[in-house]
Amino acid sequence: MKRIVLFASGNGSNFEAILQAVANKELNVEVAGLICDHEGAYCLTRAKNHAVPSAIFLKKNFSTKAEMDTAIADQCDAWEADWLVLAGYMRLVSTPILSRYPHRIVNIHPSLLPKYRGKDAIGQAIAAGEKTMGVTIHYVDEGMDTGEIIAQFPFDVQENEERSEIETKLHALEHIAYPKVLKQLLEETL
Ligand code: GAR
Repeated sequence: MKRIVLFASGNGSNFEAILQAVANKELNVEVAGLICDHEGAYCLTRAKNHAVPSAIFLKKNFSTKAEMDTAIADQCDAWEADWLVLAGYMRLVSTPILSRYPHRIVNIHPSLLPKYRGKDAIGQAIAAGEKTMGVTIHYVDEGMDTGEIIAQFPFDVQENEERSEIETKLHALEHIAYPKVLKQLLEETL
């Protein structure tokens, strides 16, 4: 069975959805650990509740990004990860991690890429008056949400729909889509 390490920065609802899919045997992987870059992030509480080991890496404790990402890659190696799964990890992943896990790092982003890369993709799409929004799951490269697209899930936005409603729809879609795509990707690759 493949071993995955999840990366999250905040709430961790996608992390939880993946853990749930594993618990329900809808996704046959071993969750080896959680990498987090924020002390006190709720995803750490979720990890504890599910007895998933976690490791916190704070930017302030490293003099360079390369140093921080080397330490993160070392932790992923120690957990014997096959794949790295970014789920709300709000930081670029750099060479020390990318070079050790080539084509083995995926991310979920709340827009139909290549539209609305980076922060507050939902706000960007709303400001642009999009009538169709969506979610993208993609491989991670050194750019900001620029890696090869694996799957996209669009949904319609109604006239004058509140942001909170849009977010609820989008997150519900993410929680279904990510485990499903991971299943295809991880259970079918060697
Ligand atoms: C998710 O909507 C995810 O798509 C987004 O952050 C949210 C995390 O929510 N990721 C990005 O914007 C990455 N560029 P969660 O912590 O509840 O899973």
